[in-house]
Amino acid sequence: MERRGITAATATVAVLLALLLTPLLPQAVAEESCSGIVPMRSRREVISIEDFGGIGDGRTDNTWPFRKAIYRIQHLRRQGGTLLYVPRGVWLTGSFNVTSHMTLFLARGAVIKASQDTEKWPLVEPLPSYGRGRERPGGRYASFILGYGLRDVIITGENGTIDGQGGVWWDMWRQRTLSFTRPNLLEFMHSTDIHISNIIFKNSPFWNIHPVYCSNVVIRSVTILAPHDSPNTDGIDPDSSSNVCIEDSFISTGDDLVAVKSGWDEYGIAYGRPSTAITIRRITGSSPFSAIAIGSEASGGVENILIQNINIYSTGIGIHIKTNAGRGGYIRNVTISDVYMNRVGKGVRIAGDVGDHPDDKFDPGALPRVDGVTIRNVWGVGVNEAGSIEGIKGSPFTRICLWNVKLWGVGRQMEAWKCAAVSGVAVGVQPWPCGELTGIMSTGFCYS
Ligand SMILES: *[C@@H]1O[C@H](CO)[C@@H](O)[C@H](O)[C@H]1NC(C)=O
Ligand SMILES: *[C@@H]1O[C@H](CO)[C@@H](O)[C@H](O)[C@H]1NC(C)=O
Ligand SMILES: *[C@@H]1O[C@H](CO)[C@@H](O)[C@H](O)[C@H]1NC(C)=O
Repeated sequence: MERRGITAATATVAVLLALLLTPLLPQAVAEESCSGIVPMRSRREVISIEDFGGIGDGRTDNTWPFRKAIYRIQHLRRQGGTLLYVPRGVWLTGSFNVTSHMTLFLARGAVIKASQDTEKWPLVEPLPSYGRGRERPGGRYASFILGYGLRDVIITGENGTIDGQGGVWWDMWRQRTLSFTRPNLLEFMHSTDIHISNIIFKNSPFWNIHPVYCSNVVIRSVTILAPHDSPNTDGIDPDSSSNVCIEDSFISTGDDLVAVKSGWDEYGIAYGRPSTAITIRRITGSSPFSAIAIGSEASGGVENILIQNINIYSTGIGIHIKTNAGRGGYIRNVTISDVYMNRVGKGVRIAGDVGDHPDDKFDPGALPRVDGVTIRNVWGVGVNEAGSIEGIKGSPFTRICLWNVKLWGVGRQMEAWKCAAVSGVAVGVQPWPCGELTGIMSTGFCYS
């Protein structure tokens, strides 16, 4: 009894100290930047899409000019790499692949516009960690811009636009006439040292930016836009990738703004490639679904995730960690801090019953583990429901920490927290947290 009393007293002092120091933290981290991971570099050689017969009139098909220019960079490899300059104008093109040691540079006023000729869109194999296309069985349409097995690629410029003209694809989804999974706007597979900055991504057919099986990826100062009713237009989905840093961006789309993933059920478990060492900070945006998400496809495991300084408005769920029985894998060591929410349906949701399965071969006994998730310094106004933390029977969520999370309703009473199959700590939480989360720190996991 006595020992417990001392622990509680020590904890109380620690709590008070931490709460006092809390306001200092945002400034302390605000200076950090991703640029060190994959620095911007200049290229020795510069070529223009116009040198390859490109015409930026918005009507001419530039698929061959893009493919020729990139073939030239790939095969006449110049020391110091090559920059492909895309001048002001509207450059209509089919999908194309980029190559190593190149910069794709979009000048101010340059728009690379995806062809709407869906019939001729190439097909590629499904991702091994998904076993099939994400929305349809079998292969999937190639991403509009794809990098496969590359290193040292920069996509940047003066805020030129990559426009997926996704409308035709969204309509096919709505009318259920899609034969295969829709294309991503920009995808890198098995690649390293990728830098994406100062680009506007617009109207992606499906997910916007998808680094999968990659390492060392920087995505900063991008703008990602798609209508709120556009289906599955996720902003940035780091997937089975490590050392990814995403910062200083504005994202407003029809689905999750940023979602960390790592493969789907039995295919993701077999492929076994986690997403790890991922930093996401200084993101502002709005979505009818989730702002910041982990999962639901997380079968290869997700760990060591740091998310800071997030500004969310008019959004379905502010912070959403989602998984499902059959997923297997784990979600652990996740820290989310300094989040401001304005007008959200639900502040926080950590759930073990989200998402569908690739086929009926998934193992319902493959229960994911969710352990060590800290959410601190959250301020929300106009929140309908505080949130829910509902683990899986047989695999409760452990060491969940809510620290200084203040959510305020709109006029009427806000719905309270809902909890099940979860243990952890809640300190300084408004509205009052559920009983499953204790107020006393028995271990040091919560605030560090
Ligand atoms: C792009 O790369 C993928 C993967 O290597 C390949 O399957 C596809 O044929 C390439 N497309 C073009 C147009 O070169
Ligand atoms: C491009 O947009 C970003 C993000 O809005 C901004 O920080 C940057 O200054 C812009 N860059 C140029 C060259 O206009
Ligand atoms: C937890 O993740 C952070 C990155 O967010 C990392 O710095 C830290 O070392 C990780 N802790 C453990 C115990 O792996």
